[in-house]
Amino acid sequence: MFNDSGWTADDLPPQAGRNVVVTGANSGIGFEAAKAFAAEGAHVVMACRSVERGEDAKAEIEADYPGASLTVRELDLADLDSVAAFADRYATEYDALHVLCNNAGVMAVPRSETADGFETQFGVNHLGHFALTGRLLDVLRRTSGETRVVTQSSMAHESGEIDFDDLQHEDDYDKWAAYGQSKLANLLFAYELDRRLRAANAAVASVACHPGFAATNLQYRGPEAEGSRLRLLAMKAANAAVAQSARAGAWPLLYAATHPSIDGGEYVGPGGLLNARGHPEEQSSSERSRDEATARRLWSVSEDLTGVAFDLPAPGDD
Ligand SMILES: NC(=O)c1ccc[n+]([C@@H]2O[C@H](COP(=O)([O-])OP(=O)(O)OC[C@H]3O[C@@H](n4cnc5c(N)ncnc54)[C@H](OP(=O)(O)O)[C@@H]3O)[C@@H](O)[C@H]2O)c1
Repeated sequence: MFNDSGWTADDLPPQAGRNVVVTGANSGIGFEAAKAFAAEGAHVVMACRSVERGEDAKAEIEADYPGASLTVRELDLADLDSVAAFADRYATEYDALHVLCNNAGVMAVPRSETADGFETQFGVNHLGHFALTGRLLDVLRRTSGETRVVTQSSMAHESGEIDFDDLQHEDDYDKWAAYGQSKLANLLFAYELDRRLRAANAAVASVACHPGFAATNLQYRGPEAEGSRLRLLAMKAANAAVAQSARAGAWPLLYAATHPSIDGGEYVGPGGLLNARGHPEEQSSSERSRDEATARRLWSVSEDLTGVAFDLPAPGDD
């Protein structure tokens, strides 16, 4: 059932002296990743849209690891002002950032819009993280030692397409197509960031990952918002019967963030049954996700939409 790497969170190298930001750290994979980093001595900034849920999660980690070094900070990826406020505050409080985990997300929710008028899945999963990374780039580049940006995608990227004519899915909203688009955007962003960082000789690596299928709250948000008891029950049954634990779902992210074999541009996922579970390994992602022209176009559109311009020219630009 599991592939051979055998790698788990227990193999995480010591993290003392390192700062890690995890978005969506109060729940599911982000929570497990925050716990694993803290258990190894990192200082973890838990970036959560609800400070209250973040503080509850922090207390839960501290109960297991009384010496854990954790700070909860508000970050609502559905609001670019909140993203800017989070990044500004981070830059005044810390002078280093070793790992940025772009992990938070929503899946297959009914159509709604962020504070800035973006379709929620595209806005939260992609544009919010795009803006966050751009705003934290200076501190990432100032950091000495191993520095990485890890962006969480999904196997759902395989069916995703970037609809440049209707990026916000205003016509004929399909919640799964919108999720697929957002998760494909995560990969196009991670790989384009890798190319731009390399072209700039920046000592920061950009890596992508996916968790396979892990039992978290992700699957419940859509049915809850739709008020669909049947879909909620079906999701709960699938989580109980098929999904791996959230703890195992965090392994690809932790591997991508710390494994010495990673140097940027990789895609890490579970190597077991159908790549839905198991120990992490490097995998290949869809052809569409590696399309450089699409990535470049999406980058430019994302800069326009968010108003966040990266100080990283595209490879080949002067
Ligand atoms: N679980 C899986 O099988 C699976 C499969 C493929 C990909 N993924 C990806 O894994 C990532 C983590 O998901 P998960 O499974 O751990 O789900 P989860 O348990 O629902 O966690 C999602 C996290 O994202 C946060 N979040 C949602 N909207 C946000 C916003 N506007 N601003 C800031 N944070 C926000 C949530 O906060 P609240 O708790 O406040 O809602 C929560 O902390 C997502 O990117 C997802 O697409 C998961």
